Amino acid sequence: MTLFLDTANVEEVAKYMKWGVIKGITTNQKIFSMEKNLDRHYYEQRIKELLQYDVPVSIELTSNGTVGELIKEARFYQRKFDSENLVIKVPMWKDGKGLEVAKELLDGNIKVNMTCLIDINQAILACELGVTYVSLFYNRMIDYYKKELQQDLDEATNSALIEIDGLRNVIKMQGYGSKIICGSIREPRDVKNCLEFGAHIVTVTPKVLEQLPFHPKTEETIAEFDEAWKKFIGDRK
Ligand code: E4P
Repeated sequence: MTLFLDTANVEEVAKYMKWGVIKGITTNQKIFSMEKNLDRHYYEQRIKELLQYDVPVSIELTSNGTVGELIKEARFYQRKFDSENLVIKVPMWKDGKGLEVAKELLDGNIKVNMTCLIDINQAILACELGVTYVSLFYNRMIDYYKKELQQDLDEATNSALIEIDGLRNVIKMQGYGSKIICGSIREPRDVKNCLEFGAHIVTVTPKVLEQLPFHPKTEETIAEFDEAWKKFIGDRK
């Protein structure tokens, strides 16, 4: 269970599920907002469609209101979809209300993906609660280190990877059950970097996923073998 797909697009999900390597789906409000012809009613229909694949599907809470309103929204999804695979994404709001919401949901056996995490202290709080997933936003971490800490790209990338490695160590040392998902993946090398440095899972956009099978040297090798075969067949006609 290493690769999740970061999309709400059913055509893309159908296409890439056939590859057999996608073990989960993640969405958020922005991802849904990029879908054409998606109104509020169809939004729920779309969640149902994503849940057909028998993999965990993370849906983010949209009502940034009181703890009660957020819990009500999550319970609505739980009743409506009644699926073991439904995972509720709860953002780490600065006042701790996300933790309060997450605790209630976990007590009610609803799986939680604590999201929008930039710092490992935020992730540790969520792990302590026992959430299923903690979502670290890799490139947004890098953006933060570049802008706020004036680091160059290499320094910022190292800082982000050190955080991922650190979180994986804390999870191991403390015996937490939460899995690290690295999101905000923008290019193929982000996938290997995050996994090498301790992410349990990387959630990739279809745009990044479709680039992963490609290597120019592999293409050259395949062409060389095909050419040799053509010559072999031609020579023996
Ligand atoms: C992950 O769960 C999020 O949906 C996503 O990866 C956020 O990435 P972004 O930085 O492209 O918004």
